Amino acid sequence: MTTWDLRNTKHHLFICNGSTCNQNGAEELTQTLRKEIADRDLDDTIHTTRTRCNGRCQDKCVVIDYPKGTWYKDLQPKDSPHFINSLLVDENYTEKVSHIFRGQCFERTPGISTGVSKDKERVLRVSK
Ligand code: FES
Repeated sequence: MTTWDLRNTKHHLFICNGSTCNQNGAEELTQTLRKEIADRDLDDTIHTTRTRCNGRCQDKCVVIDYPKGTWYKDLQPKDSPHFINSLLVDENYTEKVSHIFRGQCFERTPGISTGVSKDKERVLRVSK
């Protein structure tokens, strides 16, 4: 069991390793992001956690940067250096942002699909 000291952590990346993201390169993305972080000696600054599905499968591969609250889409291993650079200067990697937290709720990047409402999804499940 591991217990990390998070006092110097500025970014916690949730790297989706759900089935859709995994079928689209999430394992390689996870490894390249972690290597980029380790190679730059940033393990204290950027913490990573693999997650299961985050509910935005069409955006595969999904990575979420907390506590900032920025959701990324279509991240690929080749994006890792630029993505980590953007975190270090506290800017968003804008070309891959799908949602940004704006204090009250998430704001969707124009052109990004809304997805299915959770209420509609429940109705679909119940009616089957
Ligand atoms: S598997 Fe990654 S968002 Fe669903």
